Amino acid sequence: MNLLIIGGGGREHALAWKLSQSPRVRQIYCAPGNAGTALLGENVPLAITDVDGLLKFAQDRFIDLTVVGPDDALAAGIVDRFQAAGLRIFGPTRDAAKLEWSKIFTKEFLLRHGIPTAAAGRFETSLAAHAFCRGKTYPLVIKADGLATGKGVVVAEHPQAAAEAIHEMMDKGRFGPAGRRVLVEEFLRGPECSLHALIDGKNYRLWPAAQDYKRANDGDTGANTGGMGAVSPPVDALDPETERRVHAEIMLPLMAGLHAEGIRFQGMLFPGLMLTAEGPQVLEFNARFGDPETQVLLPRLKSDLLPVLEAVIDGNLNDVQLEWDPRPAVCVILASGGYPGSYPTGQAIGGLDEVQAEGARSNDLFVFHAGTKFVDGKTVTSGGRVLGVTALGNDLADARARAYAAAERITFEGRHLRRDIAAGPGVG
Ligand code: AMP
Ligand code: GLY
Repeated sequence: MNLLIIGGGGREHALAWKLSQSPRVRQIYCAPGNAGTALLGENVPLAITDVDGLLKFAQDRFIDLTVVGPDDALAAGIVDRFQAAGLRIFGPTRDAAKLEWSKIFTKEFLLRHGIPTAAAGRFETSLAAHAFCRGKTYPLVIKADGLATGKGVVVAEHPQAAAEAIHEMMDKGRFGPAGRRVLVEEFLRGPECSLHALIDGKNYRLWPAAQDYKRANDGDTGANTGGMGAVSPPVDALDPETERRVHAEIMLPLMAGLHAEGIRFQGMLFPGLMLTAEGPQVLEFNARFGDPETQVLLPRLKSDLLPVLEAVIDGNLNDVQLEWDPRPAVCVILASGGYPGSYPTGQAIGGLDEVQAEGARSNDLFVFHAGTKFVDGKTVTSGGRVLGVTALGNDLADARARAYAAAERITFEGRHLRRDIAAGPGVG
């Protein structure tokens, strides 16, 4: 089979790596890919939202299966277009992906179906949003309705911060149309947990839980990022009672709600949860694999991923087996100095070949590329999150020590990493 993977981050490199091991795969293309995916196949210089270009490429190159990484491509309707052209593609349609691209739609969906989530107001004018915030207990959480590259959520500690966030989003158009409507919601406390559930339209299958470290700096301080590291299972693994409640209070009502509303979701649904004292609550849904979560989940998956993705497309998820490595996995992200703000690119990366060679020999150490590019025979930085270093270990401490030992050996000017990934429960 010829595969096309849409995206160019660590998630896509992990998907390309995992799928390249399938005996039925002949060639992998990645659009746009990075220096890591280039080692596994061929990069295609097309933007993830260039649906016309991607469709033409898939037809010209006889692509048998396309796998979509990022949310923007889903929101651009790539799945609808490929399906209409008779091509096989993994991911939900634009309508089904609304669970990710509209937080207001999702909040209303959750409330309609009695799925636990923070109480919230939704607003179309800044006047109404400001009025709602008056007299409330802080912190409050202000959320842009649409996709805002992970920056559309502000935890406001005091009224002035809430007012500023609302003004930025609604009056100044900081996120364009995505911030024209906002949610203002109650602040929830507890450890966060990333779930991944494959859904084939009728059935769902939960993957092991994972945890993302979203803040830029140690001790969960600093700005929200795309994720500075991940661990699976989470440091505080889900106890059986919480797991039971996740199925009973979240997944089953979700499946019933999708059915009742005629939404056929086929793909990966990734609920972000807060494990509050009252039980698990939904913070958000994503309609795709998480990043960096994928970088700890796929190294733990022992089964061939290809037939699993095909089963989701064919509605046969109940027929596939998923076998998991019981060992924990830890991923440490190496970021450019300044990320998530502005940062330099084009920095030479030292030590990469040695660590990659060790990974290739060992089977439990992985270097996933994100913001990297191959220029004049050298791999250089080209993005905010540059690399993810993942290790499996006999226990959490072992996985953590191995991931950090390898991460420390890869250097570039301004390199930033958190030192406390998997050292304790992460919060947003
Ligand atoms: P979201 O994109 O909705 O997952 O929000 C991004 C991050 O903001 C989450 O991972 C949380 O850390 C934080 N967050 C979102 N909603 C809430 C909430 N209601 N209470 C506390 N933190 C939240
Ligand atoms: N790790 C969070 C995300 O992929 O959105």
